[in-house]
Amino acid sequence: SVVTFISHDGEKYETPLEEGVSLMQVAVDNMVPGIDGDCGGEAACGTCHVVVEDGWIDQVGRSGPVEEEMLAMNPEREPNSRLSCQMRLSDSLGGLVVRLPEFQL
Ligand code: FES
Repeated sequence: SVVTFISHDGEKYETPLEEGVSLMQVAVDNMVPGIDGDCGGEAACGTCHVVVEDGWIDQVGRSGPVEEEMLAMNPEREPNSRLSCQMRLSDSLGGLVVRLPEFQL
């Protein structure tokens, strides 16, 4: 299975889906631009922000309370915004599509 990241200017980056690993880690491992993961996945830096495509948000789920606190500090967050370090990949997310926000370049 694969996961697809779409940059704000429409560039697509496909990465393999690694089960049990966070979406941030997969992005960093595959050098997807715009996902830095500065805090190492602690929901404390906000540099792993992604916007989940509408059709996927139920499957992915919404942010938890700690993550939400971090997201709330960003005036440009969207309803489907998530911190990708808080998204653990499982087989059921094969084909997942997320967008990379322009503010994170
Ligand atoms: Fe820092 Fe996700 S890596 S908030």
